[in-house]
Amino acid sequence: MMVSLIVLAAGMGTRMNSDTPKVLHQVASAHLLHHALLAGASLEPSRIVVVTGHGADTVAASAADFDPACECVLQEPQLGTGHAVAQAAPLLQDATGDAFVLYGDTPFIRPETLSAMQAARAKHSIIVLGFHAADPGRYGRLVAQGEALEKIVEYKDATNEERAITLCNSGVICADVQVLMRLAGALKNDNAAGEYYLTDIIGMARTEGLSAGIVLCDEAETMGINTRAELARAEAAFQFRARTEALDNGVTLTAPETVFFAIDTHIGRDAIIGPNVLMGRGVTIESGAEVKGFCHLEGCHISRGASVGPFARLRTGAELAEDVHVGNFVEIKNSILDEGVKVGHLTYLGDADVGEFTNIGAGTVTCNYDGVMKHRTTIGRKAFIGSDTMLVAPVRVGHGALTGSGSVITDDVPDEAIALGRAKQVNKAGLAPKLFEKLKYIKEKQQKG
Ligand code: UD1
Ligand code: CA
Repeated sequence: MMVSLIVLAAGMGTRMNSDTPKVLHQVASAHLLHHALLAGASLEPSRIVVVTGHGADTVAASAADFDPACECVLQEPQLGTGHAVAQAAPLLQDATGDAFVLYGDTPFIRPETLSAMQAARAKHSIIVLGFHAADPGRYGRLVAQGEALEKIVEYKDATNEERAITLCNSGVICADVQVLMRLAGALKNDNAAGEYYLTDIIGMARTEGLSAGIVLCDEAETMGINTRAELARAEAAFQFRARTEALDNGVTLTAPETVFFAIDTHIGRDAIIGPNVLMGRGVTIESGAEVKGFCHLEGCHISRGASVGPFARLRTGAELAEDVHVGNFVEIKNSILDEGVKVGHLTYLGDADVGEFTNIGAGTVTCNYDGVMKHRTTIGRKAFIGSDTMLVAPVRVGHGALTGSGSVITDDVPDEAIALGRAKQVNKAGLAPKLFEKLKYIKEKQQKG
């Protein structure tokens, strides 16, 4: 069956106290919106509609970045969750199957929960995702008769008796797309907030004789972000889960609470991650690789048997083949290191290709930027780059070639050649003591004068 996703992301998020639209704040290096879209993606939706409002352009750009197939619709002004859903109607005129409503500021809904809702649709026309709230606060309350959901009452409109209910509305709703659009289009705003409440569609559906049901989830899944403090709590919750999952998957984390994951981090079994390792987007670490303490990784691939760090920085496009060794104070960007390459110390490799079993000496720098353009450095297999070599790109060092320490390499080096690009040394016999005498004399004269 076809599925449409409707993601509500128009709200201002006043309590974030920010110029950034709320759904573009990040948890695990990803926009909140992307977390919601990722959960929804598990339903393999044929249509994805994002309802935008505050910061519509940047929110739409973020949606397109997640999936170019996302369609955006502007809700202006924002008159409530029901009004927001109704904005999707023109786009979904011809849609069939079920629609899911998700909130762009609620990042932790699990794919399994959405599948459970999908399955429960066999029994009811509308399914609402509910949870038992430890502190029900201002959540909408689910008024149920046994299995059947009768209506949802918003806190502001609830009687004292209804406020005592602890079964609450998460906001996630699933129904036939055309039923949902028809009901959302017919909502009224005669309530305490003067808003078009999406929640009112339950009472309307029941009046028509349609049935509504509840699927329950853990309260942690329904966590919505409204403040910076909640954003920080969400980050902590994400990291706790990611660490637990990695440990369960057979990854060694010597100090789990100091390792930070991104939304898309992949780490293979028997990999070892030391303390204080920070991973941004796009990191894959294969089985048996080791990342020592204090590394900063992003957009990189570390193969089996490779060892990285301590204190290494791998940036976007760093591709390390099997058994590569990257040591301390090494930065690598947009570079491919073939099997067995060693880059032990104090080096920058940017826009480089390094052939297998090549050794890069301490202090080597690929001078990849001329102030205007970036250029590539190509180094062959089994080459030896002497310490403190400057490789002025574009430049190629051949297979089995060697560069002398301290060389500035501006011309290609043929295979198996030795390249020396530095001033020749001169020794002046007996001159050192004379120089010291002269310097002492100058110093004394200065102190007297
Ligand atoms: C809503 C529910 C409440 C539920 C709670 C769970 C309604 C009327 N109430 O209340 O039952 O317990 O969520 O968190 O649905 N949005 C728009 N356009 C609008 C209004 C909201 O896009 O005009 C978006 C917001 O950006 C947000 C989401 O919809 O992502 C929820 O809106 P919010 O105002 O936070 O709803 P609540 O009052 O929390
Ligand atoms: Ca809210």
